[in-house]
Amino acid sequence: MKLLVIGSGGREHALTWKLNQSNAVDHIFCAPGNAGTGMISENIPIPATDLPQLRKFAKENKVDLTVVGPDDPLAMGIVDLFGADKLRIFGPTKSAARLESSKIFAKELMRAQKIPTAEARTFSDSDEALSYCEEVKFPVVIKADGLALGKGVIIASDKVEATATIKAMMTEARFGDAGKRIVIEELLHGTECSLHALVDGKNYRLFESARDHKRAFDGDNGPNTGGMGAFSPANNWTAEMQAGFEAKIMQPLLDGLEKENVIYRGLLYPGLMMTACGPRVLEFNCRFGDPETQALLPRMKSDLVTLLEATIDGKIGAHAIEWDQCASVTVVLASGGYPGKYETGKKISGLAEAGKLDGVQVFHAGTKTVDGEVLTAGGRVLAVTALGQTIKMARERAYQAVSRVHFEGCHYRRDIALSAANG
Ligand code: AMP
Ligand code: GLY
Repeated sequence: MKLLVIGSGGREHALTWKLNQSNAVDHIFCAPGNAGTGMISENIPIPATDLPQLRKFAKENKVDLTVVGPDDPLAMGIVDLFGADKLRIFGPTKSAARLESSKIFAKELMRAQKIPTAEARTFSDSDEALSYCEEVKFPVVIKADGLALGKGVIIASDKVEATATIKAMMTEARFGDAGKRIVIEELLHGTECSLHALVDGKNYRLFESARDHKRAFDGDNGPNTGGMGAFSPANNWTAEMQAGFEAKIMQPLLDGLEKENVIYRGLLYPGLMMTACGPRVLEFNCRFGDPETQALLPRMKSDLVTLLEATIDGKIGAHAIEWDQCASVTVVLASGGYPGKYETGKKISGLAEAGKLDGVQVFHAGTKTVDGEVLTAGGRVLAVTALGQTIKMARERAYQAVSRVHFEGCHYRRDIALSAANG
């Protein structure tokens, strides 16, 4: 089979790495890919959002299966476009991807299906949103309705912050159309948990649990990022919680989609907050998580191509996903300054030395190869994953590997999976 993986992050390197292990695979293209995917597949310089070029490429090169990494091409309708040409592609249609691309659509569906989530109000008029700030109890969470590169969620601790955020989103259009409508919701407290499911329209299969670390600095301080690290399994996730999650969240969600005549086929990843009153849905993602994928796939024993194909064909119910019972810890190495301004083009050393450690995989994110050297090319640069019998052991190995990698300005969190390792 010929595969095309779309995207250029650590998630896409992990997907390419895992797909490459399948006996069914002869060749993988990655568009646009990074230095890491370039070592195990063929990078094609087409941006992930250039849908016409991607379609043309898949057609001309007789790609048997396309796997979409990021949310943007899904929200733009890449699956519908490929489908119209009978090109096989893994991911939800544009309509189904609204679960992620419209927080209001997701919120309304949750409300209709009584899925536990934060209490929320939605606004399409900035004056109404501003006057709501006169009566609401702070802090609140303000969210742009659409996709905003993970930056469209702001915690406002008082009226001043809320007013500035509403104006920035709705009046000044800082997130373009994504912020024309907003959600204002209660701030939930607890630890987060990421669940991934392969959904085939009717049935689904859950992955092992994972947790990511969204804040930039140790102790969950600083701004939200795309994710600074992850580990699996999540230490706060029990079999009882999983049963509750399936009964109160997954099944009602699938029932709700059916009522809306939406067929969801692809990876669905609800992000949960484990509150004192039980799990609450923070968001739905319609794609693999980043960096959760880098922590999850090294634990997966099943063939990923088989699972993706079964999902597309509506046959995931006939498959069980097998997992290694070990733990995994992923530490993200970022450019200094990320998620704000940062420099690129820094030489990365120690990659081979880190990768030599037992049970360690170095996944590339913002990297590129220039004259045989690997240089930084983005905010999140690498994701170093280590497996171990316990979270503690995986964690020690991951940081040992991280200590072998160097580039100017490198920033990483020292406390990834720390509480789980001690707990
Ligand atoms: P979202 O894009 O909705 O997933 O939000 C991104 C991140 O913001 C989440 O993963 C949480 O860390 C945080 N977040 C979102 N909504 C809430 C909430 N209601 N209470 C607390 N934290 C939240
Ligand atoms: N890990 C967060 C995300 O993929 O959205």
